[in-house]
Amino acid sequence: MTILAIESSCDETSAAIIRDGEILSNFIANQTIHEQYGGVVPELASRAHMQNIVPVVNAALQKAASQAGENGNDTAAFLQSVNAIAFTQAPGLIGSLLVGAQFAKSLALALNVPLIAVHHMQAHVLANLIEDPKPVFPFLCLTVSGGHTQIVLCESPLSLKVIGETMDDAAGEAFDKSAKLLGLPYPGGPLIDKYAKEGNPKRFKFPEPQIPGLGFSFSGLKTAILYFLQENTAANPRFVEENLADICASIQHRIVSILLNKLKAAALTTGIDQLCIAGGVSANSGLRKAFTELGEQNNWKTFIPAFQYCTDNAAMIAMTAYYKYLNEEFVDLGASPTARA
Ligand code: KG4
Ligand code: ZN
Repeated sequence: MTILAIESSCDETSAAIIRDGEILSNFIANQTIHEQYGGVVPELASRAHMQNIVPVVNAALQKAASQAGENGNDTAAFLQSVNAIAFTQAPGLIGSLLVGAQFAKSLALALNVPLIAVHHMQAHVLANLIEDPKPVFPFLCLTVSGGHTQIVLCESPLSLKVIGETMDDAAGEAFDKSAKLLGLPYPGGPLIDKYAKEGNPKRFKFPEPQIPGLGFSFSGLKTAILYFLQENTAANPRFVEENLADICASIQHRIVSILLNKLKAAALTTGIDQLCIAGGVSANSGLRKAFTELGEQNNWKTFIPAFQYCTDNAAMIAMTAYYKYLNEEFVDLGASPTARA
């Protein structure tokens, strides 16, 4: 059984092919145009998706055909073997989602195959099922992206329950907004990660919010960093450039501790010992290291998707679509994307 999946929720255009639960190809076109604006510009993202979608789908088909031992140039023949088309339905930028959805519907119509609508956050979680070793159900997943921060209790591929969530900013936003305050370009998360590698994470102390239960909050941290930088640059205008590595390491250390303290609490309250991370922020090297250590200290099993399956990609959409196909969860051609879930 073969599914072609498309992801276009934000600023990455991606297409992937899954056959009998195995990913055959996964292509991602990044949009660099947004860097100069300090954030994703929705209208530019939609236009870039329009330009990227045909070449990206074509590349995914070619690679999958050669992976399957067929002629990679004969994409038309490979397309005939596709049993369903999947797309990201929500959440995301509506103009971006529409490009992927319309393309997916047109293909489903032309090939006369069913259409599968996938929730982007569910797909981030199921990225953990793409490669071995895989977690055993039930497991907990800390999903951390540019728009979400959630602890998800996963009982089966199609039964996911959010048991903890951010009250304000997402972890990715905390990284990106902190980076912006430091004068770093968008998206700043990967840059904080890079500079943090050379820095002392204990040098500066940022506050940890006291939020009850499994909730998160990052807006206080952002304000604390703003005041910290204002105070220190007033005394020394070169403060940021002279201390960039230590500042980045200290910010990253605090964001990671906020995330993992709640994940630890979730594991203790549920008694679940299989833990996963997912979403763009799970590419963060500090988080990956501390997460693995948390597992070792408590005798919990930890799982992290391969780097290319952490940030937005269509392989995770394909993986989710695979389970939906088995469960016959199809949508009709009238299905519309929505910005919010
Ligand atoms: O999942 P994702 O690719 O897109 C959304 O669905 O939001 O996540 C993007 C977020 C951005 O905030 C980006 O800065 C962050 O993930 N990110 C990182 C790293 N790589 C990506 N944050 C910290 N360290 C990284 N290495
Ligand atoms: Zn995402």
